[in-house]
Amino acid sequence: MTLARRELLARTGLALAAGAIASPGRSNAAAAEGMPQSRDGSSADPWDAVRAQFVLSDEYIHMSAMLIASHPKPVRDAIEQHRRAMDANPLTYLFQNNRSLQDAARAAAGQYLGVNAPDIALTDSTTMGVGLVYNGLRLTPEQEILSTEQDYYVTHESIRLAAKRTGAKVRKIPLYEWIDEITEDQIADRIAQAIAPATRVVALTWVHSSTGLKLPLRRIADALEALNADRDEAARVLLCVDGVHGFGIEDVLLPDLGCDFFMAGCHKWLFGPRGTGIVVGTKRGWDAVLPTIPSFTDGETWQAWYSGAEPAGSTTGRRMTPGGYKAFEHLWALPQAFAFHQGIGKSRIAERTHALAGQMKEGLAAMPHVTLQTPRSDNLSAGIVSFDVEGLSPAAVVRRLRDRRIVASVAPYAVPHVRLTPCIQNTPAEIEAVLLEIRAVAA
Ligand SMILES: Cc1ncc(COP(=O)(O)O)c(C=O)c1O
Repeated sequence: MTLARRELLARTGLALAAGAIASPGRSNAAAAEGMPQSRDGSSADPWDAVRAQFVLSDEYIHMSAMLIASHPKPVRDAIEQHRRAMDANPLTYLFQNNRSLQDAARAAAGQYLGVNAPDIALTDSTTMGVGLVYNGLRLTPEQEILSTEQDYYVTHESIRLAAKRTGAKVRKIPLYEWIDEITEDQIADRIAQAIAPATRVVALTWVHSSTGLKLPLRRIADALEALNADRDEAARVLLCVDGVHGFGIEDVLLPDLGCDFFMAGCHKWLFGPRGTGIVVGTKRGWDAVLPTIPSFTDGETWQAWYSGAEPAGSTTGRRMTPGGYKAFEHLWALPQAFAFHQGIGKSRIAERTHALAGQMKEGLAAMPHVTLQTPRSDNLSAGIVSFDVEGLSPAAVVRRLRDRRIVASVAPYAVPHVRLTPCIQNTPAEIEAVLLEIRAVAA
């Protein structure tokens, strides 16, 4: 541990305990089962062994994995292996391996999410997936895309461009007036009540990156299902979701969420290779969309081009995967990211992330000069913790925390908040150290 991090933790009196504290409510023995062992082979706190997979600098307490991940060892090793092979034999290695390695990435994502591998497109990021889906939807000028005022720039901008191109309309509703009074039922009801005869697409974000609010996707999907029962296939409402801030945290299978399209980057909470992402579609979703960027791995599209024909059949994950030569060593290291998560266990990751975020929220809620934005309920939140400090702009708080060697971020929205995003790299002692600094920020 470097001096900086030791000093930081010492301010809380927790330096010696750092890493020796299990997540609240769980025994070390239970946590140890099936998890990587700590470096000396003991199982004092198995989360130490998880943290040891990363080469994060000890100079900072890192609370920003929601933006861009540090690669854990298995991902670093896989990238390195592919990079060396590519540097030695670029074209031979590519031609011999690209198809099977992309299929392996799809298979790993499919197994992790409980969906069929052919229904997965491989992208560079959430942003690319969101853009491809909204740009590709076959919309008419009579139809509309319904979204909320609280959604993120990436969704808003993608649907604005889709509307410009197709003539379809965009309508944004306020999802709530007061976030501290919101319930799961109210969210689902508000969306269901806003559906109009022209609504063809509902464009949402699973976990809002402004406030950390997590939407009850299953309830929303159930409400849409009831409305869709009376609609023709071509008029059914499609549920499209930017899922990035629940992906890699929540212990769910995708079919249980009920989305027609789910877009996520793999380089945030999943700790996958930087520059990777996925789009998952249902049959209904794929039938409603066209690719934007030519696929290099869809044989049927190539064959159709050779013969001057239209590719037969509907869009698939492979056909939606943008082609072109790219940073293949990152794409091909995706299976190791899913294996890393499965090795620790999805339920353990969910429990740990929620426990750390819960500890942070409890601490912040008790500070008179802090307004916590994120709901306290686990059903309405995931790993993002957002808040405001009285008398200071979010940017000023983030600067002060950075000076105290804590990496936070400002949510880039018209109404910004400070964000801290604890994850499996962090310890309860780090949360305490951060809380101590936030108490001091106002003093
Ligand atoms: C809700 C949301 N969607 C998308 C993004 C961008 O993700 P990516 O880097 O995977 O494009 C962000 C932030 O980085 C975000 O907060």
